[in-house]
Amino acid sequence: MAKPLIAGNWKMHGSLALIDEFGRALATTELPEGVDVALMVPFPYLAQAAQALNVAGVSVGAQTLSDQPSGALTGEVSGAMLRELGASMVLVGHSERRSMFHENDQAVLGRVRAALGVGLTPILCLGETLEQRDEGRTESVVLGQLDAVFDALDASERAQLVVAYEPVWAIGTGRTATPEQAQAVHSAIRQRLADYSGGLEERTKILYGGSMKAANAADLLAQPDIDGGLVGGASLQVDDFLAICQSAG
Ligand code: PGA
Repeated sequence: MAKPLIAGNWKMHGSLALIDEFGRALATTELPEGVDVALMVPFPYLAQAAQALNVAGVSVGAQTLSDQPSGALTGEVSGAMLRELGASMVLVGHSERRSMFHENDQAVLGRVRAALGVGLTPILCLGETLEQRDEGRTESVVLGQLDAVFDALDASERAQLVVAYEPVWAIGTGRTATPEQAQAVHSAIRQRLADYSGGLEERTKILYGGSMKAANAADLLAQPDIDGGLVGGASLQVDDFLAICQSAG
């Protein structure tokens, strides 16, 4: 089974002071053996985060990137810039990017390619809306988002991705998918990964995200196909986040 990963997604929250607080806490906390931890922070905090969180097993990442290596693209940030500041991972296709910033599957693929091109690990986010779930389309939506990227990559590229299943209706709502609901989709994702061959179903981490917190993390992480978490709100509190990391051990 893939090594568990707990990734915090700060979204547009946090401060330099919060980074230092996490740095101090992580330097003095024993993380469970075999658990990887990452914090996906806003761009301006990357350099400081890479310095403050320089602890074994802890990575720093960004929340999106441009699909272009450079250019007259005011306001955009390239993968090479993220690498230079110490990021090793990047979220791609988060549902907030898909819905509020109009990133379709093509745009998501472009960003995955840009990340791979500079050696960043993309965390590819997938998830259905409540309406799609109610219409019985969860699997087709989620697997469609997966295929839109995986179909276009070669085997060595596919092997570098992390996948995160985040039902849109569970993000920031306090309404977590039940462990059974999450497991059902994770299992479908793992089966689809097996179709791509190359042992992808064994090596690919499939994270769950959507109102994961200290109180529900252990039950979610106990599911056979849930390899970790992508944690929004609860990643802004050191104690909550570290408690989730502990329950992945
Ligand atoms: P949440 O966010 O944990 O606050 O629901 C998760 C995410 O959007 O990655």
